[in-house]
This record gives sequence, C-alpha cells and structure tokens, in this order.
Amino acid sequence: MRTQVAIIGAGPAGLFLGHLLKQAGVDAVVIERKNRAYVEGRVRAGVLEQVTVDLLERLGLAERMRREGLVHGGTNLASDGDVFRIDMETLTGGSTVMVYGQQEVMKDLFDAAESRDIQIVFDADDVALHDIDSAKPFVTWRKNGVEQRLDCDFIAGCDGYHGVSRAAIPQSVLKTFERVYPFGWLGILAEVPPCDHELIYSNHERGFALASMRSLTRSRYYVQCSLDDRIGDWSDERFWDELCLRLGDEAASRVTRGPSFEKSIAPLRSFVTEPMRHGRLFLAGDAAHIVPPTGAKGMNLAVSDVVMLSEALIEHYQQGSDAGIDGYSTRALARVWKAERFSWWFTSLTHRFPDRDGFDRKMQVAELAYIKDSRAAQITLAENYVGLPLV
Ligand code: APR
Ligand code: PHB
Repeated sequence: MRTQVAIIGAGPAGLFLGHLLKQAGVDAVVIERKNRAYVEGRVRAGVLEQVTVDLLERLGLAERMRREGLVHGGTNLASDGDVFRIDMETLTGGSTVMVYGQQEVMKDLFDAAESRDIQIVFDADDVALHDIDSAKPFVTWRKNGVEQRLDCDFIAGCDGYHGVSRAAIPQSVLKTFERVYPFGWLGILAEVPPCDHELIYSNHERGFALASMRSLTRSRYYVQCSLDDRIGDWSDERFWDELCLRLGDEAASRVTRGPSFEKSIAPLRSFVTEPMRHGRLFLAGDAAHIVPPTGAKGMNLAVSDVVMLSEALIEHYQQGSDAGIDGYSTRALARVWKAERFSWWFTSLTHRFPDRDGFDRKMQVAELAYIKDSRAAQITLAENYVGLPLV
C-alpha cells in the first residue's frame, strides 16, 4: 500500500488531520490500534475554543454542534464558596466557547469519515515506524495476524501520550519537560440538569471542584482527590456531599443529585516534548504534549497543531515549498507553551497542594480576590480561556 501521509492514531488529532488533508486533496491513511467504539467511548472534556468551532465549520461538520452545543459567554470562579462570574464575551470583545463533548465531536468526525471515504484502519497491532530519517519512510502493523506495510512521504504521529511515534525519535534529539501534580480528578457523569447555566471552577480549603455539563440534562462534575483513592472509595453519596461542600451553599442549593453512570479518576500532568518534528515524522496532539484538564485545553491544542501541520503539508504538495514543514515545530510549540502556562497557572490557582503550607493558600485566596475585583486580571483569564489566536 502507498499513500502521501500516514497518520498514526484516530483520536481528535488524527481524525481532524485526516479530514483537513482529504478536503485539500492530499492522500492519507489513518492507522488506529483500537476500534471505533473504544475511541469514541472515552469520556473527555467538552469545551471547544473558537479555533475548534471554526475548524468544524470549515470542514462542514458543525451542523449538530450548532444545534446541540451550548454557547457560553462566561465562566465562574469560586473561592471558599463565594462564586463570581468572568464575563468572557464582554472582556474579549465578543469571544465565547462552545460546550459540546469530545465524544460528540468524535462521533461527527467518524460518521463523516465514512461518507467522505477517509481511509481508517482499525485494530492495527504492533504499529511500527521505519526510516523516518529517509525520504522513503514506511509504517508496518499486523491486522488479524497478517503483516501490513504502508509506504508514504510523511508520517503524522497523532497516537497520544502512550503511542509509538514519539518513541521513534532518537532520545538524543528529544527534550522533555514535565510537571506531575500530587492529586487527581474524580469525575462523574449523571443524567441530571446542571447546577448553573455556565461552569464553576471552585477553590475550596478541602480541594478543587468543577461543575460542568454535557447538555441541559446531563451534568459533568469533578472533585480533586488523592492519587491513592480508588473508585470504590467514592460512593455517589460521598461524591455529591463533597461536591456540594466545595461549591459552597449557594451553588450547592442548585445541585440536582442522581445516580452516576460514569465515574473515573484521572491523574494530572503537564508535559511537552521538543521538537515536534524529526525527519519525515511530525508529532501532533497528546503525542507531543499533555496539559492538566483545568481549562480544557487538551483537544483544542490537538486541533491547533493539526491545523498548522495540514497547512504545512498542503503547501508542500500544492506549492512545492517546504517552508511550512520546516517551521511547523517552532510555530506549534509557541502556542503549545502558552496553553501549557495557562493550564498550569489555572491548576495552581484552584487546587489544594498537599505539600504546601498556609502561605501558599493565602496567596491563592488573595489572587482570587484580586481577579474578582480587577478587570485587567479578568481579561488575562478570559483571553486565555476562550483560546489564543493561531499565529
Ligand atoms: N498505533 C496506532 N494508534 C495508536 C497507538 C499505536 N501504537 N497508540 C495509541 N494509538 C491511538 C489511541 O488508541 C487513540 O485513539 O491514538 C489515538 C490517540 O488519541 P488521543 O489520546 O485522544 O490523542 P489526540 O488525538 O492527540 O487528542 C488529544 O484529546 O483524548 C483527548 O486527552 C486528549 O484532550 C486530549 C486530546
Ligand atoms: C468537562 O466538562 O469535562 C470539563 C470542562 C472544563 C474543564 C475540564 C473538563 O476545564
């Protein structure tokens, strides 16, 4: 088999890239280790920046999002139960975010991939990258026990944090930067109306809590937990009690309780690898960087990476210029680091750090009080939250 671009991984990065290349007439094959149900079933964040909304529009995939998504012009912070609103739309001169779950985005991308004849190989075992330093790279895998080979011009490593692409780059070339946080997020989904029409990010002495949603009838809530906690430690009742305590009386009075139908614990990590290109291999999305979920930048960063990568590849095929390809890593990393900074800052502001003392806690409370009263501080938060422009 032969193609122009081999895309490893059918998560948001790989599928968006597949669609972008297809739209431009560049030939690509997506190779995914799991099946569609697995990829689509993973519960992830659901706040889309304008960059992501624009891309869905540009690809002609925005119809359901426009119908079912919720436009949020503001978000809320809480400091020990005192909730205040950040009017992002006014502060940024009109920018908003779209609340539409990543699972819905994935469903729309997969459905359209079928009708647009985007080739996806599922259940590919032992995917391996070869000769990425040469002009003739190729990818191999096994499907149903049979060896397969795909020759290509370029490989896009969109296979997430645990993928094989990053590992194909020699250790001597890669630099990695990492921060592991000493807590996790326990998240639940429940078929109950959300407690507010917007999100609430709460800093409480007992730890962080987040009130989010998937729709007007489905809520997504999180509480910061210990990394030693097990799901079995958290009955629904314990979860709701802790959530209400951390959101404060006023918001808690509007929380509708109900049985959870999904419950999971996720660790928090900041991670960046540089460069995002080696030879004919490009990294995009979680394969190159991870953000903690505070601020919901993960999928949006994967999107900005592949928009830049697609521009570079299309320029190569349509204009015969490699300027975009040569500049991809530097251009992508500039935006990645700003989102890393914001996600780290927002995490640091809102969580309880077990290893820190009373002074640090006072600094958090003072900073929240400052943000509450300062338009300048609110603009800084708002412009990062809605997403920085693609430059
Ligand atoms: N070969 C082929 N596919 C692989 C391999 C492999 N060796 N390893 C992993 N994959 C697949 C995974 O099964 C997954 O479907 O690559 C895909 C990577 O998807 P994500 O982890 O979602 O990463 P990305 O597309 O970069 O999306 C980033 O979406 O899922 C969120 O938390 C994530 O918010 C972040 C954003
Ligand atoms: C979510 O709805 O899952 C969500 C929302 C905002 C975040 C993180 C997660 O910052």
